[in-house]
Amino acid sequence: MRVIIRDTADEASRLAAQQIIDGFTPPGRLGVATGSTPLPVYRYLREAYARGEFTLHGSTAWALDEYVGIDEEHPERYRNVLLHELVGNGGTGLAADDLKTPDGKAEDPVKAARIYDELIGPGVDIQILGLGSNGHIGFNEPFDSLTSRTHVGLLTGTTRQDNARFFDGDIEQVPEYCVTQGLATIMTAKSVVLLAFGERKAEPVAHIVEGAVSQRWPGSILQLHDDVTVYLDESAASQLEFIDSFKKFHS
Ligand code: GLP
Repeated sequence: MRVIIRDTADEASRLAAQQIIDGFTPPGRLGVATGSTPLPVYRYLREAYARGEFTLHGSTAWALDEYVGIDEEHPERYRNVLLHELVGNGGTGLAADDLKTPDGKAEDPVKAARIYDELIGPGVDIQILGLGSNGHIGFNEPFDSLTSRTHVGLLTGTTRQDNARFFDGDIEQVPEYCVTQGLATIMTAKSVVLLAFGERKAEPVAHIVEGAVSQRWPGSILQLHDDVTVYLDESAASQLEFIDSFKKFHS
């Protein structure tokens, strides 16, 4: 794991975007995350597209997860969030049909999860990840299997509370179920770029970077992947025991 720490989230996001711009060879498969953390990276990718330095034209983008049962028009439906970030606002060259998301409206979500997992097949080239305050990646909550494939998951109270800010602050409006890539599915990505910013992420960051690989902190599975770069701001890095070494190795 490479751990890159910068003073601000914006500086770290710019570096992460540059890694993607330099490392992504079209036509390829980019794994994309939702949540607020990767939004500046998407902005940097759109700006690079506008300058002709990056394109997702002819490539596919693959979402990590989707809420089950969420209205098709809902702005927080992850498909809509990602269309807004990658196709709207000047876009990244990605065609709407080339954005792949699990079908949260399927009559049989278990089957929808299996189909999505089969479509991902050999995995994406670069996977962008955020980190939940309880250590989740995608929607793989604590105590989900470390070897899971894409599946229907139940969101914890912590995650529904965290995400209530996107639903008028009302936890009742946050769906209870999701379809999420499993941890084993995420691990098929050839390389992983994980971003975590702010004080709220300091504890999960310390666990997934320096703690034991465990179901309690699902992101810790990434310690078993050989090409992971973690981008942090000072606050998210603040509980790392080896913070000085990380800064020295990757200044
Ligand atoms: C959601 C998403 C995750 C994301 C997490 C963190 O639960 N399913 O993929 O990493 O939120 O969100 P934020 O970046 O807003 O802190």
